[in-house]
Amino acid sequence: MTTLIRDDDTIRAKADALLAGMTVEEKAGQLTQYFYFGFMRDTTGESGDDLHIPNQPAMVETALARGGAGALLFVNDPAETNRLQKLAIEGNRHGIPLLFGFDVIHGLRTIFPVPIAMAATWDPATIEAGQAVAAREARAVGIHWAFAPMVDLTRDPRWGRIIEGAGEDPYLGAAVAVAQVRGFQGEGIGADERIIAGPKHFAGYGAAMGGRDYDEANISDYEMWNTFFPPFEAAVEAGAGNVMTAYMDLNGIPATGNRWLFTEVLRETWGFEGFVVSDANAVKNLEAHGFAKDAPDAAARGLTAGCDMEMAVSEPVYDHLADLVSRGTVDEATLDASVRRVLEAKLRMGLFDEPYVDEDRAREVLNDPAHRDTARIAAEKAAVLLENDGLLPLDAGALERIAVIGPLADSKRDTIGPWCFDFDLEETVTVLEGIRDRVGDGVVVDYAPGIRPAQRTFPSMFDMFGNNAPVDPEGFDDELELARAVALAGTSDVAVVVVGEWQNMIGEMSSRSSLELPGRQLELLQAVAATGTPVVLLVMNGRPLDLRWAAENVPAILDIWYPGTRGGEAVANLLFGDVAPGGRLPFTWPRTVGQIPMIYNHTVSHDPENQGKRYWDEASTPLYPFGHGYTYGDSEFRNLSLDRSEIAIGESVTVTVEVVNNGSVPVEEVAQLYIHQRHGTSSRPVRDLKGFQRVSLASGETRRVEFTLGPKELRYWNAAAKGWVQDAATFDVWVGGDSTATLGASFEVTGPARDAG
Ligand code: BGC
Repeated sequence: MTTLIRDDDTIRAKADALLAGMTVEEKAGQLTQYFYFGFMRDTTGESGDDLHIPNQPAMVETALARGGAGALLFVNDPAETNRLQKLAIEGNRHGIPLLFGFDVIHGLRTIFPVPIAMAATWDPATIEAGQAVAAREARAVGIHWAFAPMVDLTRDPRWGRIIEGAGEDPYLGAAVAVAQVRGFQGEGIGADERIIAGPKHFAGYGAAMGGRDYDEANISDYEMWNTFFPPFEAAVEAGAGNVMTAYMDLNGIPATGNRWLFTEVLRETWGFEGFVVSDANAVKNLEAHGFAKDAPDAAARGLTAGCDMEMAVSEPVYDHLADLVSRGTVDEATLDASVRRVLEAKLRMGLFDEPYVDEDRAREVLNDPAHRDTARIAAEKAAVLLENDGLLPLDAGALERIAVIGPLADSKRDTIGPWCFDFDLEETVTVLEGIRDRVGDGVVVDYAPGIRPAQRTFPSMFDMFGNNAPVDPEGFDDELELARAVALAGTSDVAVVVVGEWQNMIGEMSSRSSLELPGRQLELLQAVAATGTPVVLLVMNGRPLDLRWAAENVPAILDIWYPGTRGGEAVANLLFGDVAPGGRLPFTWPRTVGQIPMIYNHTVSHDPENQGKRYWDEASTPLYPFGHGYTYGDSEFRNLSLDRSEIAIGESVTVTVEVVNNGSVPVEEVAQLYIHQRHGTSSRPVRDLKGFQRVSLASGETRRVEFTLGPKELRYWNAAAKGWVQDAATFDVWVGGDSTATLGASFEVTGPARDAG
């Protein structure tokens, strides 16, 4: 339940008093959040034109002056938030301030690794620390609420928004969701230097058909409750103050007009007390879906489904609410309930007392060097060592020449990844810069891009948010550049090749129909490898890519994701062994696009022995399993034991294991616990993650790690019973470094199956 920093009863009483004095129009005004594209104001003052909304800022300012807006989004300049806040406060009789929301996804000024990379840390403390920094910076500039975390599970990496989430697993997804909510909100809504968290997009958006963004999702109840809901439920339990709707149709009903989701599940079952916001224009688009008859119908159905606030790019349809109430189509009590939730959020955030921000203080907070260090540490923890035949770590003292190759190696914009706005490219450290700084003058570090950056097939609306594809480098001669890179590699002691996707190829509206390395990257890699110089391959990505050739032919592969502001520095520290890699894959890495969807926690199914032989033309095993990742050095898991071999339904068993560092360098391990229920009233996954713990071990150190398996871990949602059950059954349990762990045991759960809700 929400921890309330400000006294609950006082808040309720204040909200009631305000509501009692408001007209229906004033109430309806509180339920619109406008996009404000002031930051794109062009020389003619006609900003918003790219979106075909002429004079969009003027439209919003008119609404503010008549008390017709409850919130804004996309303002991140403190002077501008103060100016607009003043307009709003003076524009309504009650002096109600605005809530400012923003896509604070992986940092504001300090850019952290992208969310999928943060999930790859398997370290809730690192994730929480990152979002706490983001919250501090956001609050300082006047932002009160993040449209994050995105807790949609992704089982189809063609979907570009895989980069924003925590991958494929509900248990890891729930843990990451909780860490992010805590990071954003601190002790609760209204905590100092914190902001409201808005988990999104409720629910099932990650199951878009064909991985095509916005397309329909058809999800069984079994999958919804066991897979897609748990991260949302966990975020709500952690006290998230807001939830955002999703764009797509869910089983034939657009999510934003889906009463079952927002009223029955979110509020009535999970007890959510915050406010719900639509995704951009999603209420209006109930009409586009062929669901609502017209704009007023869309407004009525959005609100009664449980969507309190509309996020509007253009004319808001919630402007019809006053009329709908006076005609009796919408109940005033329904309107009041939504307005109360919005007012309560503003009161809890203390905005009536302190609506403005201090611009000097904002500058100070944005420049805090401690924030950059937190981001560097996160990037070090997030990297996943996919392959290593002993080439890594590099010994700087033994090298004379390093070749750094590939256009991504020195691209500041790509280093920080998509979905960020307030970044400072000047201070962003690329891989090339990081390596140069780390080795100093004693080692020659030469750079060759080798190939030109790849382009998207067609431009996207998202390119206008500074996410533009890199322009063709002037006078770039393709054959000459390729030859130059190969020659450079041939005369160097080691070649560090950076490949991946350009940051605007992934994210919203950036699905791919292939997982191949875009452009001529594979050709470049093959040509460099053919020189015989040892190659370290760095992968800059937010989704798995087709690395079949590299996995066979390249001695060391490190997945660095889009590592953020201090990314290059973190990468250099990893390459030269100043820190050990310990990130683990939060998704199954397929060999080829044709295997998708591919998840580790599928059910056992018919003929499990031949699970790896389902295709004629390719192994049906992944390239890398869920949870995979190596460290430097030599570690092992041993002595797995259970405190009991039999428990009754409702009881718990404790699983203990030792993680040992047998080598001479520190290691980073992630102990991962998986279970399998051998029989029962449903067939259950072949493996299911139910616990994890990241551990750092000094040379020679042994650590005992303990996990508890109780009703919460052993229950599941049963389709026949339409509810949570726990079966009496034999369970297998394994602990190890990835989802193929072999160190195992088993235990019995006895007693009659029962409702475990
Ligand atoms: C995205 C949301 C985002 C919103 C505001 C939408 O297109 O789906 O995730 O928060 O825009 O930028």
